[in-house]
Amino acid sequence: MSLPAFPAPRTGCPFDPAPAYTEVREGPGIVEAGMWNGTTAWVVTRYDDVRAILADRRFSADGTRPGFLQFAPGVNPQVSTFIRMDDPEHARLRRMLARKFTVRSAESMRPEIQRITDEHVDRLLETGPPADLVTGLALPVPSLVISRLLGVPFDEAEFFQASTRKIMSWASSGEEAMGALVELGTYLSGLADRKAADPGDDVISALVTEYESTGELTRQQLVLMAVLLLIAGHETTAGTIALGIAALTRHPGQLAALRADPSLVPGAVEEVLRYASVVQSGLSRIVTEEVEICGRRLKEGDNVILYLPAANRDEKVYPNAAAFDIHREGPKHLGFGFGSHQCLGMSLARVEIQVAIRTVVQRIPTLAPAKPLQDLPFRHEMFVYGLHELPITW
Ligand code: HEM
Repeated sequence: MSLPAFPAPRTGCPFDPAPAYTEVREGPGIVEAGMWNGTTAWVVTRYDDVRAILADRRFSADGTRPGFLQFAPGVNPQVSTFIRMDDPEHARLRRMLARKFTVRSAESMRPEIQRITDEHVDRLLETGPPADLVTGLALPVPSLVISRLLGVPFDEAEFFQASTRKIMSWASSGEEAMGALVELGTYLSGLADRKAADPGDDVISALVTEYESTGELTRQQLVLMAVLLLIAGHETTAGTIALGIAALTRHPGQLAALRADPSLVPGAVEEVLRYASVVQSGLSRIVTEEVEICGRRLKEGDNVILYLPAANRDEKVYPNAAAFDIHREGPKHLGFGFGSHQCLGMSLARVEIQVAIRTVVQRIPTLAPAKPLQDLPFRHEMFVYGLHELPITW
């Protein structure tokens, strides 16, 4: 019997998870799926199970374990850094970046993020209506913020958008994705040399001067960490901004409430993170000893995909979960994961999304969609969901 292929298509409302996984969540909770290369994985769909697995050491994130899930041809789980490691090595490397990713550091970047966002909104207002909110705001702003954080000169930031896109697409061949990764790595190593000679107040300078110089970090690890930050922080934030604004324009009452009362913005952003759940590749883990989930016995070496879009719509946790509701209260969503690997950049992402949504809502008071929902190009083929284009008018 052939297994259903992962990922199942999002054939329903484009904001909703693939209907097949909603059915699994309401039914058995877990389903075995076939991957592109003939391997299999268990897709876990319920909020409580996903959260429990992310806090359970019997599920490893170590990409060097034999048989660790390979999502797509170009994605080699062995060529990665701490996101694909277990503690203590994971914690040792993650700690080197922690200082730059606290709530306080993220807040200290808010004025700069506001400035970058305002510049992009100025340009949208000068050239439109209509305008594309993805190329005009959602993609360039997070890219510039990470570039600034890493110490990448602004005029070199364009290059990242192209490279991350090649690395992050199910549509890229193995060679294309690997080629883009190598190109990005070579660039970042060159940048680390420049920072060693002339350090600044940025992440790459800190890694070079504090850790590479003492032998605690190899150049290869440094480059992989920088690549991780670029990849993890760019399209995720962009996709969330685009889907958030798209959802708001489809809910004019909530849009008006947000405009009237900006103190609602942080709560609205949490709802966008839950509702959009952009990490549609799910999170992957490998089983290290026999364990039972939803009545199924998983054995050592089995791969597990924690499908966040379905978990964040779990009716047992969020009443009327399919509704977009900026006033929603309740448990924390799993959009940033959970446990020791929970998103390192979540405070920064929150500031970026809050600033983007607040600024667009305030500065474009007559904001409206320029195309019907069914004509929007959703990023079905990418690991990170979102929109290729979001035409707006005012
Ligand atoms: C809306 C935006 C974002 C979303 C939805 C998101 C989501 C996630 C999720 C679900 C994980 C957990 C991965 C796992 O357990 O396997 C994660 C990890 C991570 N994220 Fe984010 N992320 C976002 C933005 C960012 C930003 C802005 C950065 C940094 C610039 C970042 C850096 C990281 C890093 C370094 C990890 C690995 C943490 C670890 O393994 O200890 N992310 N992210």
